[in-house]
Amino acid sequence: MPLISTHDTTFPLQEGETLLEGLERTGHEIEYQCRSGYCGFCRVRILSGRVSYADLPLAFIAPGEILTCCCRVTENITIDCRKRIEEPDLFSGDLFDGNGS
Ligand code: FES
Repeated sequence: MPLISTHDTTFPLQEGETLLEGLERTGHEIEYQCRSGYCGFCRVRILSGRVSYADLPLAFIAPGEILTCCCRVTENITIDCRKRIEEPDLFSGDLFDGNGS
């Protein structure tokens, strides 16, 4: 399977997995809406390698950008994407436990 490199890691795309799904599985910061090539929310810059599309997507993408929801990845690529920054969960503790902690 092709290897996907981002600013933070390199991981293999799994069988039948879209690039968007692989980025979500590995905790990357990636937006999406339609997941089918219409909205363009999932686009990222590709830094090396190439992808293809089964059908030409309807969303606008600039040169050097790809749509992670619907591109076909058949070779190793590097993309401009970072892992999601985990925010502390302010509501994980009991705010009303009386300990003030
Ligand atoms: S999520 Fe809409 S084009 Fe990819």
